[in-house]
Amino acid sequence: MRKSFVVILGLLLVFFVGCTTKQASQTAETTSVNSNENVTISNSTYTMSEVASHNTLSDCWTVVRGQVYNLTDWIGKHPGGEKAITQLCGIDGTDKFVGKHGGKDLPENTLAGYKIGDLVAE
Ligand code: HEM
Repeated sequence: MRKSFVVILGLLLVFFVGCTTKQASQTAETTSVNSNENVTISNSTYTMSEVASHNTLSDCWTVVRGQVYNLTDWIGKHPGGEKAITQLCGIDGTDKFVGKHGGKDLPENTLAGYKIGDLVAE
């Protein structure tokens, strides 16, 4: 009697641990999926002439501090107006971005979300 009680208790324990472990790993997966939203894969390299060819409202790349950003989707969202972004399409926008927003958390973090790669020499 006592032995079967111990066996049942053991089985319940195994079941309980199994459930909580699964839940924990599911939560971790969800978290990592959510934290990857809006993050662009950024291991490519581009030359300045490639950047220069993306100089339209529907295809707008810029460079800031040696890194390349695709700002196309940001044009219509920028709180400071579209013009501030469209003037950067196809050029090195470092001076304009840093002059206005350099070192400020929100603009810096927003910019980071649009990174597509690094600038390399021609
Ligand atoms: C290149 C990428 C840029 C990104 C990612 C960016 C991002 C942002 C963000 C996140 C805000 C809101 C800031 C807040 O609410 O605290 C903002 C506001 C603003 N931005 Fe930009 N910005 C960019 C370029 C520029 C440039 C080049 C200019 C002008 C030369 C500019 C002018 C403004 C202005 C006037 C505002 C309105 C409020 C303020 O003065 O902060 N932005 N920008």
